[in-house]
Amino acid sequence: MSAPNKSYDPVEVEALKPEEIDRARDAALAAIAAAGDLEALREVKAAHAGDRSPLALANREIGALPPHAKADAGRRVGQARGAVSQALKKRQEELEAERDERVLVEEAVDVTLPYDRLPAGARHPLTTLSERIEDVFVAMGYEVAEGPEAEAEWYNFDALNIAPDHPARTMQDTFFVQGAEGSADGEAGVVLRTHTSPVQIRSLLTRDLPVYVICPGRVYRTDELDATHTPVFSQVELLAVDEGLTMADLRGTIDHMVRALFGEGLGTRMRPSYFPFTEPSAEVDMVCFVCRGASVGDSGRPCRTCSSEGWIELGGCGMVNPRVLTACGVDPERYSGFAFGFGIERMLMFRHNVEDMRDMVEGDVRFTRPFGMEI
Ligand code: DAH
Repeated sequence: MSAPNKSYDPVEVEALKPEEIDRARDAALAAIAAAGDLEALREVKAAHAGDRSPLALANREIGALPPHAKADAGRRVGQARGAVSQALKKRQEELEAERDERVLVEEAVDVTLPYDRLPAGARHPLTTLSERIEDVFVAMGYEVAEGPEAEAEWYNFDALNIAPDHPARTMQDTFFVQGAEGSADGEAGVVLRTHTSPVQIRSLLTRDLPVYVICPGRVYRTDELDATHTPVFSQVELLAVDEGLTMADLRGTIDHMVRALFGEGLGTRMRPSYFPFTEPSAEVDMVCFVCRGASVGDSGRPCRTCSSEGWIELGGCGMVNPRVLTACGVDPERYSGFAFGFGIERMLMFRHNVEDMRDMVEGDVRFTRPFGMEI
C-alpha cells in the first residue's frame, strides 16, 4: 500500500474515478458471464479479482487518499468488488453443476452392455479333495507319486499279478491304446490305466525302500456315463512297503484318513474280498458320517447318503501280494506292504451330497463354483 500523500488529489487518481471503477466492474462481470468452463473462470478470476486486477489495485490506492475521500472511494470500490465476487461465486456454482451433469452423462457405465471377457472358472472339487487327501498323507511322511495315464499293460496288469485271462483285461473294461490283448503285431500293449495300482509298481521299481507313497490320479474304464458311472474317474492309491508292516498298520492308517477327512469318531470295517495284487484283501467301509448308523432299521429316519445301510464303501485294500513284491525285486521274506485304492468321486459324492456323477464330469462352472477354494 502506498504511503499517504498530502498533495494527493482524489479526483486525479485515475483508478478511483467512479467511471473507472464501474468500467472495471462491468468488464469483470462480462468476463465472468462469458467464461464457458471452470478453467476459463479461473483465469477470469485471476484477471478481475486477483491481486493485480484493476479493482484490487484501485483498492490499494484508497489508503493513500486523504481521510475525507476515503469513505466514498472505499464504498464504491467495495461494492464493485462485492458484485464481482458474488458473480464469480454464482458462475462457479453454475459451471460446477454443468460439469457434474456432463460427467454423469459422459462417464456413465451401461451395465447392460454385453461384454467379451470370459468369466473366470472355478477349481474342480475333485482337485481340491485330491490335494486334501495328499496333505493328510504327506503330513505322515508319505510322498506323492505319479504315473502315466497311458500305461504299459505290464504295469497295469501283469506286474500286479493280474493274469492274462483275468476279466479286467478283456475289452469290456479296458481302453486299449496299442497292441490290444491277443493281437498278432507283437507290440507291447498300452492301455489307459484302469486303476492307479500300476503306480505301486513304478514306485517300487524306482524308489529306495522303505516306500511310502500316495497317488491320486485319473483312471479309465469302458463304462457308459450315467448317474453312478463315468468312463473317466479318479482313484487314490496308497502303498507302504517296509519291514514288519501288518494289516493293523493298514487299518490304523485308513482310520486316520477317515478321521482327517470326515471327522472324529467314525469307525471303519473290513470285509474279506479278493484282489490279485493283495493277499489277504478286503473292502473297506466307513460308518456313514451323516446318520452314523442311526438310519439302519429305522424307516422313519432314512439316510440318503448311505441308503440307510449305515456304512459307506471306500474301496479295496490289503497286504501287498508277495508275487507283486517279487516282480519288483523286493524280497518278500524281509519286507511286507499294505495298499489301498479308493474312488475319489465316491468320497466327493458322500462328503458333499453330490448325487449325479455327471455333474462332476460335465465341467459346468455352476457346479464347481459353490465349492469355493477349500472344501
Ligand atoms: N486297484 C483296485 C481297483 O481299481 C483297487 C485296489 C484294491 C487297490 C486293493 C489297492 C488294493 O491298492 O490293495 O479296483
